[in-house]
Amino acid sequence: MVKAKPYYAEGALSALYYDVVTAADARVRGDEAVYVDLAQPGAEILELGAGTGRLTCYLAARGFTVTGVDIAAAMLAQARKRVGALEPEVAAHVTLRLGDLTALDLKQTFDLVICPYHTLAHIPAGAAWKNGFLTAARHLVPGGLFAVHLPKLEVMQGLGAIDPKARVMDQPMGDGRRLLIYVRERSFRPGLNRLEQVLDYAVVDAAGVEVQRSSERLVLYMQDPQPFAEATGFTLDRQPIDQGGDGDIWVFRKV
Ligand SMILES: C[S@@+](CC[C@H](N)C(=O)[O-])C[C@H]1O[C@@H](n2cnc3c(N)ncnc32)[C@H](O)[C@@H]1O
Repeated sequence: MVKAKPYYAEGALSALYYDVVTAADARVRGDEAVYVDLAQPGAEILELGAGTGRLTCYLAARGFTVTGVDIAAAMLAQARKRVGALEPEVAAHVTLRLGDLTALDLKQTFDLVICPYHTLAHIPAGAAWKNGFLTAARHLVPGGLFAVHLPKLEVMQGLGAIDPKARVMDQPMGDGRRLLIYVRERSFRPGLNRLEQVLDYAVVDAAGVEVQRSSERLVLYMQDPQPFAEATGFTLDRQPIDQGGDGDIWVFRKV
């Protein structure tokens, strides 16, 4: 059996086709409006886990100045391409950095820090989460908001048995090819609230012939973020905002 690559690794199809998957993913639909609503016009925004620049570029095009940080070179390479396709005056409002959100010090503060689409859930929910919250606090002006999108624990716990032959995604790619995704393995560790899945990605051409395949290991963690926030100088600003039925955007204010 093929060894599974870490999600978003160099050469991983999860990175290469992130935008195809996300464009079809109801779990992120409309999240950009939540972040826009949290920012004052012209605000400076730090995005932790910027990925391929999906939100980074959207926010820059709406007049915000955005710094996007990501640990995965394969994701940032796509973000750079996306920024390159922006109007030069918009692209001038984007900075991209390779970095780890659990150990980041840009020596700069922002009006809003965002950690979208389960980024924090990719990190073990212990000391590393605390360091992520400390990073947000370090980069925020007093009174600034930190918005972090996390999965709903009950959804993670309730994922049922898998059928490795069932496609969880079958998405046309606009050029005759289709992206197919299957769940090959799934386990959930209560207590740690750790969900581990191996997803098989396959690309088939117009004739149905498989032209690319890889297995990707996706690990997600979830805990109540409030104790981490309180320990690092934040208060809960409002009730969590439901995002796509399987996650919430938590909004904390730096005290
Ligand atoms: C689901 S993607 C979200 C990308 C983008 N923000 C969006 O909403 O489309 C999660 C991203 O978090 C990044 N990531 C995971 N751990 C990280 C860390 N410790 N520091 C920085 N980025 C990290 C991954 O490389 C990936 O690009």
